[in-house]
Amino acid sequence: MAAGIYPYFLPLTGHEGTTVTLGDRELVMCGSNNYLGLTSDPRVRKAAADALDRYGPSCTGSRFLNGNLDLHDQLESELADFYGKPAAAVISTGYQANLGTISALAGRGDVVFADRDAHASIVDGCVLSGAKHRRFRHNDAGALDRGLAAVPAQAGKLVVVDGVYSMEGDLCALPEIVEVCKRHGARLIVDDAHGLGVLDQGRGTCSHFGLTDQVDLITVTFSKSLASLGGAVVGDDDVIHYIKHHARSLIFSASATPASMAAALAALRILREEPWRPERAQQNADYLRAGLLSLGISPGESSTPVIPLRTRGVIDTLLLWRRLIDNGVYTNPVVPPAASPRLRLSLMATHTTEHLNRVLDALSGETDMFLREDQPDATDGMAELAELADSSAARP
Ligand SMILES: Cc1ncc(COP(=O)(O)O)c(C=O)c1O
Repeated sequence: MAAGIYPYFLPLTGHEGTTVTLGDRELVMCGSNNYLGLTSDPRVRKAAADALDRYGPSCTGSRFLNGNLDLHDQLESELADFYGKPAAAVISTGYQANLGTISALAGRGDVVFADRDAHASIVDGCVLSGAKHRRFRHNDAGALDRGLAAVPAQAGKLVVVDGVYSMEGDLCALPEIVEVCKRHGARLIVDDAHGLGVLDQGRGTCSHFGLTDQVDLITVTFSKSLASLGGAVVGDDDVIHYIKHHARSLIFSASATPASMAAALAALRILREEPWRPERAQQNADYLRAGLLSLGISPGESSTPVIPLRTRGVIDTLLLWRRLIDNGVYTNPVVPPAASPRLRLSLMATHTTEHLNRVLDALSGETDMFLREDQPDATDGMAELAELADSSAARP
């Protein structure tokens, strides 16, 4: 901490979306998943304030009992309509949506397969479910195919993937994964936390591939593009009904606050009316990726507003993070076990070219701190070791 490189729990004192205040300094925010820039939109803020006035600060209970408002129901029906699916269940966070959905649907005797890079909430949902839990190499439909082939015919099979991977900004290999799931009779859940609001006019990864009707359930969060707090799962009526009556994270936890629901609802409506926002977020990401490449810095596999900048190790990551703060740019430092060391940048529709140029300027003096395309990750080999450990743990 004395070295000034402890990067966690920093108290920001102002938040205007594209900029934040840290101490007495204003920084360009490149660490927020506020992809559409809606946290500072006056319509979203007013909707939250009006709901606070009308309903108060809390529902003081689970949706199952006293904590259900017309706002929760309204958001469910507009989300389902947005995705073209029959129903949705709103759950208090995206983390709880994955936890509750997976653990409600899978149980002893079933096998759940999750991509190695899938979000922690998916892993925790698998653990809570009591099902056998296997992880397959990132985006490797062949590995999934082999894993599913080894499952006894009578066992229930569930596959869970992210639509957009949060550490790499790359897309799920959805067409291949869907094909493998169909062939083995496995159900498929896509966590589209980072696809909602970003891909295909905001309709997300499944829609981007034209496969929404081939995916059983889509889970989302409101804490990114929808500028709020909360989560949901979207799918068929009977499955959603079942989840609403069996997901422990929904039943045994208080419902999302009125202000959060009203903000998410307002943001969803704006997303539908303003398709320039997802487009601009992607254009900004393209602009930054081109600038990075011209500086000799690799943007990895990213094709979305999440851009990883790999570094040579943990210390370099923290030093670099600090130097960028000193140069007016806020990024997120990521270190193992979350992922190999990197700075993660997230871009918004509302970043201006001036903001992006400030980021590129700040990075231009640091190019020797990043891994080149031809250099291995600082943690290369870790994934293989973890895979070995996983497969032995999963043996009967
Ligand atoms: C892929 C993914 N799924 C789920 C979540 C959890 O969402 P929430 O912040 O609403 O709990 C996140 C957020 O970090 C995420 O990146």
